[in-house]
Amino acid sequence: MAYTVPKLKDFSPAALDKAVEKLLAAIGDESDAVRNDADKKAFRDRWLARKDGILTQVNDLWLKPAPKEAKREVGQRVNKLKAEVEAKVEAALAQKPSAAAESAIDISLPGIRRPIGAEHPIIRTQNDIVGVFKNLGYSVAEGPVIETDYYNFEALNFPPNHPARDTQDTLFLANQESKSRREQLLLRTHTSPVQIRTMEKMKPPIRIVIPGKVHRNDPPDASHSPMFHQIEGLAVDTNITFGDLKGTLDHAMKALFGSDVKTSFRPSFFPFTEPSADVQISCIFCGGKGYRDGGRCPNCKASGWIELLGCGMVDPNVYGFVNYDAKKVSGFAFGMGVERIAILKYGVDDIQLFFQGDVRFLEQFG
Ligand code: DAH
Repeated sequence: MAYTVPKLKDFSPAALDKAVEKLLAAIGDESDAVRNDADKKAFRDRWLARKDGILTQVNDLWLKPAPKEAKREVGQRVNKLKAEVEAKVEAALAQKPSAAAESAIDISLPGIRRPIGAEHPIIRTQNDIVGVFKNLGYSVAEGPVIETDYYNFEALNFPPNHPARDTQDTLFLANQESKSRREQLLLRTHTSPVQIRTMEKMKPPIRIVIPGKVHRNDPPDASHSPMFHQIEGLAVDTNITFGDLKGTLDHAMKALFGSDVKTSFRPSFFPFTEPSADVQISCIFCGGKGYRDGGRCPNCKASGWIELLGCGMVDPNVYGFVNYDAKKVSGFAFGMGVERIAILKYGVDDIQLFFQGDVRFLEQFG
């Protein structure tokens, strides 16, 4: 029952003391129940409000009606009581929220939203490319980033000291001199060694794509990074022709960049393919025209074409390293840079952005 100020009939000191005691007990209980700011305001108003606050009622019900001879006695007690009530109210207002109130769960509050992460644009691009080939029936193979000279070069038909090795600025592991050359370790410069590792384990038919990290000794700038990603492809079976290679890559480029994109194959050289080709796609920025916005297209340097990947028919010498019969099987291989494709697809102007972990860049791909 909430405390109400009683009317007094008996104004004797003993009766007064009893009434004061009851009132102080009531304010003690009520101040203990104060938890939050709303409680504090209600508590203060109930006890101190000029109009109808408890102290005002004490004045009206105890002091005013007191008989003349008791006035002094009542007045003294009411003054003391006033001071005590004010002190109690002040203490309650200064009170910090209790631990219990703080830990209480307020289910009406909105929850804490945790930002959902986004797939990194390189991983997303890698998955997109792999997805195109999965739809053509290819499986995924992977291999080690720390590779031997044998798998990175020799078995891919780069003989020791062959100048083609110079095109891949290689990071070698230290203290390998005591090993034979083919066993020396390096950071793989391309995903092509996984072609060899797969053919060693499996007989044809083979249709695989190989995503992964590669390293080159290139100083970082807007278009170079010492670490980047490639996706390799390998198809080996009977009667595979250069026409199959062209059809496959033309389809893949259309799937990645849109069906308007054209492909063009130009002769090139890689030790592990013969013949080899560089693949260009028609410029996705100017539609292959070479000019846009009334000027030269800067993306294709006004040529209308963008060079994108290397490919070719697997060199018969390579089959020799994995005990395939070069007279019976034929196949093609290709390799592309994931960053290069992501840069084109998303219009990114600096490869370093992919590796700096800046959330302002990355969250655009959410
Ligand atoms: N491994 C080559 C490089 O990193 C790219 C490449 C070219 C891969 C032709 C291939 C290929 O499989 O057939 O420069």
